[in-house]
Amino acid sequence: MPPVEGRLSWKARSADLGDLDALLSLEVEGFGRPWTAAMYREELARESSWVEVVVDEQGEVVGFVCAWQILDACHLLRIATRKALRNGGIAQTLVRRLIDLASRRGCSHIELEVASQNASALALYERLGFVAVGRRPRYYSQPVDDAILMNLSLARAAAEDT
Ligand SMILES: CC(C)(COP(=O)(O)OP(=O)(O)OC[C@H]1O[C@@H](n2cnc3c(N)ncnc32)[C@H](O)[C@@H]1OP(=O)(O)O)[C@@H](O)C(=O)NCCC(=O)NCCS
Repeated sequence: MPPVEGRLSWKARSADLGDLDALLSLEVEGFGRPWTAAMYREELARESSWVEVVVDEQGEVVGFVCAWQILDACHLLRIATRKALRNGGIAQTLVRRLIDLASRRGCSHIELEVASQNASALALYERLGFVAVGRRPRYYSQPVDDAILMNLSLARAAAEDT
């Protein structure tokens, strides 16, 4: 799919309760089993969670990422962008922000699971330097798919940025 043109100025910020409707609508657009308002209220209140959004020039939320800090790991749980704006670098902006925030909180790495058939997500993570470290057969049920476990060493990401 060709990239969305002329939209290079995505801005990332932390989410708050005012973003709840946008988060829920992105959930419905992106996932078969969307997270609920109660789940996001919990995530937004939890100190060890990150919920980060990207907004367009009008301040509309066009994507989000949700992650947990577990000891020195940052576990990326959810990421989704507006369907009509995919392949325009929104998710890349979100993951780069997470890399920055997790590094500043002292995390050694970011870990995630991704469905083996999710080509755009795999391309996104590989482009940012994540490497496959394992596979969980039939981890997903709707549709049935294996999970690829991926890891990004934050020390390596920082070294490559300099
Ligand atoms: C995965 C997702 C978050 C990516 O968001 P995005 O804003 O389109 O991501 P980006 O534009 O930053 O990057 C997408 C990359 O995938 C590539 N891509 C898109 N479709 C592809 C395909 N079918 N095969 C291979 N690569 C593909 C793009 O070219 C781009 O790579 P590039 O930067 O090297 O050109 C988005 O597709 C989405 O919301 N999906 C639904 C929810 C989901 O599956 N989340 C991930 C699992 S938690």
